[in-house]
Parts: sequence; structure tokens; C-alpha cells
Amino acid sequence: MNRGRLHFLIYGSLTLLAAVLVVMLILPKDDTSTADDDDDDDDVDAYIIHGGPPGQYGKHDAIVPIPHPAEKDRQSGKARLGEKLFNDPQLSADGTISCASCHILAQGGDDGRKLSLGVDGAPGDVNAPTVFNSVFGFRQFWDGRADNLSEQVAGPLLNPVEMASSWAIAIRRVKENPAYLDDFRREYGGEISERTITDALVHFESTLITPDAPFDRFLNGDATAIDDEAREGFRRFTDYGCISCHQGVNVGANFFQRFGIMGDYFAERGNITKADLGRFNVTGQEEDRYIFKVPGLRNVALTAPYFHDGSAATLDEAVDIMGRYQLGRALSDEDRRYIIAFLNSLTGKYRGEPLQP
Ligand code: HEC
Ligand code: HEC
Repeated sequence: MNRGRLHFLIYGSLTLLAAVLVVMLILPKDDTSTADDDDDDDDVDAYIIHGGPPGQYGKHDAIVPIPHPAEKDRQSGKARLGEKLFNDPQLSADGTISCASCHILAQGGDDGRKLSLGVDGAPGDVNAPTVFNSVFGFRQFWDGRADNLSEQVAGPLLNPVEMASSWAIAIRRVKENPAYLDDFRREYGGEISERTITDALVHFESTLITPDAPFDRFLNGDATAIDDEAREGFRRFTDYGCISCHQGVNVGANFFQRFGIMGDYFAERGNITKADLGRFNVTGQEEDRYIFKVPGLRNVALTAPYFHDGSAATLDEAVDIMGRYQLGRALSDEDRRYIIAFLNSLTGKYRGEPLQP
């Protein structure tokens, strides 16, 4: 059996297992509740206040809080060197584009564009995801072609519509810059190479995590951290089944799923591009067509526009499309308002400061 098919089977089974587990978690034992069931708020609070089995967050185990980054990791020499590299446009072919050009940390860790612009304003083929919390992703990129952050770094560096660079260029520019000499000497015995540049960047990226979202404070026992609308939104997010795909510490990014399960999103949008084929571009397997990594929804309020094609300008539009194409359900104005209130409660803090739009 080839690797692609094996992965498909493994992640397919994992997805199914996750969905079954979630359904078991959300269905009350004594009735066959429908999605419209309104179990009472006290129930939610009881889990929060009493915690308890099956896990620390009781009924809310499907989503768990983001841990705080260890101060020693944040302050490490490698992470600080990685931060310099992340902000250094000299790594790109023409010296104009850094990682931070498309992953603006003050603005949600993405670039706010439908499609990114690389050197010479070349448009990319997909929307830039946030770099915040990407360390928790089970793979990197929309189609999961990089297994982890180390594999991911070369992607943008060498991509002709991103930094259009090469390792030779990047290494030469770093060597030419005296500001780096001490850092590389101290951290890597003076070795300036693909390996060490990647390693430093990954150390920095691993600190790009955003704990303390209101929803995390709620999970940690502060029942007042989110308001009634967000609470009701979380209930609907759970009851309608969004959570069967968007779950875990990053509220997603745990497995692949088809975009357009209950309807043909691509046929209806039209103009299908290569990037729309998703995971198929990696495996060449027919069943991977239109399959994408389920994106994490942390800080999603700050990362419009949405989807790999950047087609949804607002969260309202994105939630509406998810309802229709992933769940086969027309969400009402009220549904969307509550769910968005919940999604807003997923905005965390970076270096102790709440992220801003
Ligand atoms: C020109 C804009 C641009 C630049 C410059 C850029 N990126 Fe990206 N980044 C993107 C886009 C677009 C994607 C999505 C690509 C895909 O999925 O095919 C992405 C994806 C990522 C991801 C994966 C996130 C996820 O959830 O899958 C990480 C991590 C990342 N970039 C880090 C970096 C680093 C580190 C650099 C610098 C070495 C960098 N990026 C430079 C636009 C950019
Ligand atoms: C069957 C799995 C599945 C279900 C159920 C699901 N989603 Fe998604 N969601 C995805 C996938 C896959 C994508 C990425 C689609 C793409 O861009 O190719 C996505 C993307 C999103 C995005 C855009 C994120 C971004 O950064 O661009 C939002 C917001 C979202 N989902 C919210 C929801 C909500 C709210 C629900 C319930 C109403 C829901 N999803 C149900 C799989 C799912």
C-alpha cells in the first residue's frame, strides 16, 4: 500500500474516531437530543466548577486551553535569533520580503489579504494562514505537504511567488550581516547553514503561541470570562457538529477533511485552480481531491479573509459556508451571531498582550 493511501486511511479513521468520540461527549445519555436542544447553562457551569472525569475540563475536553510558553523557551538565544531571521527581508531574493511581511504578528499572524503578495508583488495561490499556534498543527500548509515546522521553512523561502530565494542567497546574506555573527557563534558554534537557520526559525515559531483567550479562561474555571452569547455559540458549535472537525488545543489542525462534504463548494464557486485540489497535489490519490487540513480557529476573528482561497471576506460568510457545505445546514442569523461570539472568544494573548485586529 503506498504512503498516500495509508495516510488517507489512517487520517480517515482518526477523523471518524474523533467524530464518534465527540458525538459520545455531546449526546446526553438519557435522551436522543436534536441539534436544537437547549441544555441548560447550569449544566455547563457544573462542568466548569466541578471539572472532573473524563478529563480536567469535563464536557469541554474536545477543546483544551493553550498552555503558556515556558519563559526559558521564549528568552532562549535560538528563539531570539530566529526572531531576527523572521523579520529579515534580506533572506528574500530582492531583499524586500521577510516572513513577517506575510505573517504580521501585530495583526493576527497573517497578512489580511485574499492571496499573499511575494517579491515583485507576485500573487500567491492561497490565503496565508496565521503563524500563531502553528506549532500545534499536525501538519503544515493547507495541503499538509510539510510534516512539521522544520520541513515548512524552506517552502516560503524558495517559493517563487513568496521570497523567491535560495539557500545559497539566504546563507550568504546572513554571513554578510555582522549583526548575526555573535548569535550564530554562541548558538551554533559559528555554523551558518540551512540547518541552523531553519532550527533558529523553528525555535522562534514554537514560541508564537497565544494563551489566555477568554474561552481558555472559561475552560480554566472562570465562568464569567465569556458572555451568554459566546456560551450559547459554543453550545451550537458543539451541537451542530462544527466541533467534530474543529477541536483540540488549536480548535482544528488535527486532521484532513474534504471542503464540500454536503455540497459541491468548488463547482458552485467556479474557476477551479490547482491549489483547490488540496491534498491531491501531494498524494496524487483521487480520494484526496479537495481535501485540506482543517484549519485551527484560534484568533480566527483577526484573520479575515477566510479559506484556502480567501473567498470569504467575513467571519459571517465563512460560518454560513461551513454550515451549508460541511454540515448541510442553513444557519440562521441568530446561529451565526452566537457562533461568531464564541469564535471571538478564541482570541488570545501574545507576550501577555491581547492580539488586536
Ligand atoms: C509572500 C507571503 C509569505 C511569506 C514571505 C512567508 N509566508 Fe508563510 N505562508 C504564506 C502562505 C500563502 C502560506 C500557505 C501556503 C500553503 O498552504 O500552501 C503560508 C504558510 C505558512 C505556515 C503554515 C501554517 C499552517 O497553519 O499551515 C507557516 C508555519 C509559515 N507560513 C511560516 C513562514 C515562515 C517561517 C516564513 C519565512 C521563512 C514565511 N512563512 C514566509 C505566506 C507567506
Ligand atoms: C467536516 C469537517 C468540518 C466541519 C463539520 C466544519 N468545518 Fe470549518 N473548516 C473545515 C475545513 C476543511 C476548512 C478549510 C476549508 C478550505 O479553506 O479549504 C474549514 C474552515 C473553516 C473556517 C475558516 C478558517 C480560516 O482560517 O480560513 C472557519 C471560520 C470555520 N471552518 C468554521 C466552522 C464552523 C463555525 C463550523 C460549524 C458551523 C465548521 N467550521 C464546521 C472543516 C470543517
